[in-house]
Amino acid sequence: MNFQPLKYIYKTTDNPDAYTLLLLHGTGGDETDLIPLAQNFGDGYNILSLRGNVSEHGMPRFFKRLGMGIFDEEDLHFRTDEMIEFIKELSEKEKFNANKIIAIGYSNGANIAGSAIIKYPGIFSGAILYRPMPPFKTINENGSKSSTKVFLSSGQTDPTVSLAVITEYLEKLKSMVSEVEYHVIPAGHHLTQQDVTLSAQWLSENFH
Ligand code: MLT
Repeated sequence: MNFQPLKYIYKTTDNPDAYTLLLLHGTGGDETDLIPLAQNFGDGYNILSLRGNVSEHGMPRFFKRLGMGIFDEEDLHFRTDEMIEFIKELSEKEKFNANKIIAIGYSNGANIAGSAIIKYPGIFSGAILYRPMPPFKTINENGSKSSTKVFLSSGQTDPTVSLAVITEYLEKLKSMVSEVEYHVIPAGHHLTQQDVTLSAQWLSENFH
């Protein structure tokens, strides 16, 4: 497989037992986008922030799409494998524990995180998915539950994601991971302070 490395920022706590927050930006973002958000979660976590390897008219993304909300699922499979391989290799270089990763993704970043949760059961200890969409049209449950805990928040008036589609996605996730906490925020596709406050509380309760 001709995997390419991803651009990244890594900030260590120098604590070998620390969890690592894996920051995954939205369309048009980069590895700097979610660093300020992560500062809401305290300084007890390593930070690994990636830039997606796909460019859509110059806008970084983690995988290709064929139209708004229509994902190139072949590319999503490839980019998910590429990202997981990169993270595993990087954990050796940067000396973080690859078994203690909490993914934090917004929109496109939330969707590659969702893909990794489905394709690599247990790859993440936890995941915070802001404005997620189901990564695949068909999600086959594998019958076993991983220990992953997932927080998701959707926007009540988000024009890019229908809440009905999310409900179905939630049901699938609940059969695949140990815990799911879900919130509908009075907002559109943009993130709000309420998303940050609720997810910070969830993180502190589950991974402090
Ligand atoms: C986006 O614009 O990023 C979509 O809402 C989500 C995606 O394409 O993954």
